[in-house]
Amino acid sequence: MKIMKILITAGPTREHLDPVRFLSNRSTGKMGFAVAQAAAERGHAVTLISGPVSLPTPAGVTRVDVVSACEMFAAVERLLRDHDALVMSAAVADWRPKQVSALKLKKSTMNPILELVPNPDILRSLSPSKGQRLFVGFAAETGDPLSEAQRKLESKGLDLIVANDVTLPDAGFAVDTNRVTFLTAREPPRAWPLQSKLAVGHQIVVWLEQHLCA
Ligand code: PMT
Repeated sequence: MKIMKILITAGPTREHLDPVRFLSNRSTGKMGFAVAQAAAERGHAVTLISGPVSLPTPAGVTRVDVVSACEMFAAVERLLRDHDALVMSAAVADWRPKQVSALKLKKSTMNPILELVPNPDILRSLSPSKGQRLFVGFAAETGDPLSEAQRKLESKGLDLIVANDVTLPDAGFAVDTNRVTFLTAREPPRAWPLQSKLAVGHQIVVWLEQHLCA
């Protein structure tokens, strides 16, 4: 089996308004860290780019910590060329505040309307540099997971998208289990039963092993 170099993102991003306030989401990093652990257990070389989380680095994994979506974009862009596959399990904030104050904003003078600007879409922006690499995305959905995931698979130029319904109590954010469906351009959707995030991580890495240069 070919040893792959796999770049994985995990966790939330934080989009600061000032040194103490930020916009973020419920991601804990468990899913991305589980993919990183699975890839390292299967003998691959793993770089894990993580947003702010409270998890230990899995054994044998090289970790790069970032805070914001722009920092995550810069890290993925810098490291991608040295990797065979990218797995984006991070919950990247789509928006950031237009103004960031270096000092804590005062309640009395703060504008109650927050102006936002879009963050770069990391997967879509790096799609032209993809080459022979495999790109895997996740789709965190609250409606019909499969139709939205199908749209993201195509619009972000992915090889595989892992759809998870984040409204379920035993799946998605902050739990140790997940219930996912794999969607690809060529194969019929594959729904996996409820399993540990580590087991989902192994399924993703096995998929990469089967499809890299296939
Ligand atoms: O961290 P946990 O608590 O374990 O929770 C796991 C999880 C729910 C965060 C994870 O399983 C998951 O679904 N991650 C993707 C969350 C997400 O941002 O989904 P999305 O549908 O908004 O984005 C689709 C894909 O585009 C994702 O691969 C995302 O990383 C990527 N993206 C999103 C925004 C952006 N600006 N750039 C991106 O590349």
